[in-house]
Amino acid sequence: MQKITIKKLLKKKYKSPIVCLTAYTSNIAKIADKYCDLILVGDSLGMVLYGMKTTRDVKIDTMILHAKAVKEATKKSLVVFDMPYKTYTNKTLAYKNARRAIKLTNCDAVKLEGGKEIINIIKFLVKKKIPVLAHIGLLPQTSDGFKVKGKNTIEEKKILKDATGIGNSGAFAVIVECVVENLAKKITRKISIPTIGIGASKYCDGQILVTEDMLGLSGFAPKFVKQYANLNKLIEKSVKKYVKDVKMKRFPFSKNVYK
Ligand code: KIV
Repeated sequence: MQKITIKKLLKKKYKSPIVCLTAYTSNIAKIADKYCDLILVGDSLGMVLYGMKTTRDVKIDTMILHAKAVKEATKKSLVVFDMPYKTYTNKTLAYKNARRAIKLTNCDAVKLEGGKEIINIIKFLVKKKIPVLAHIGLLPQTSDGFKVKGKNTIEEKKILKDATGIGNSGAFAVIVECVVENLAKKITRKISIPTIGIGASKYCDGQILVTEDMLGLSGFAPKFVKQYANLNKLIEKSVKKYVKDVKMKRFPFSKNVYK
């Protein structure tokens, strides 16, 4: 099994789609690692695992615990640590937090949300040898709710400007979240680093989804998330069967009993 490096990932831009998923636990990481180029330990875990209303309440120490488990379970894929809200508001804070996160988790890179306003922070981290995955378009940490971006010219211009700046910032790739197809296509053609889309069409250089969303476990199912399974239904069915078995004294069976 050959380890994916950032260099290898960059080469994929003009060759083959970059496959990414999120993972917060070692069980999911072990499966994703067999098939993905990149695993993101996303701060979406706040909403998906902890039932928070936004990602803004996620603490860096929570992220560190999950990222450590994911990285330890991963042999091949690049593992990216998602920097939580307000942990990178200036260069010094960003470096202090990113360095600590990388040191404690051994992750390969960090992810930061934002456009033009964080370019100097990205440049600083890269200069300090911390690889950065950027994130533009819909920015869950600062946006109010879920809304597709780039539908009007003002928004399109702003996001294209963000993309150009990010493309020259030293970030090795950029997540493009929830933008209209035409804009995703323009960004991908305009910048030399790979674009990884989530709700941003097939024109990106790669795709990422929140694993629990595409497995039908989180209950979050907007149009852009293809449902590859309905784990919620499967789990509920299994729980109901177990409850019935216990109540009817059918479980434990004799094969489940120590003699
Ligand atoms: O936190 C996360 O999982 C993310 C993805 C939605 C890209 O940022």
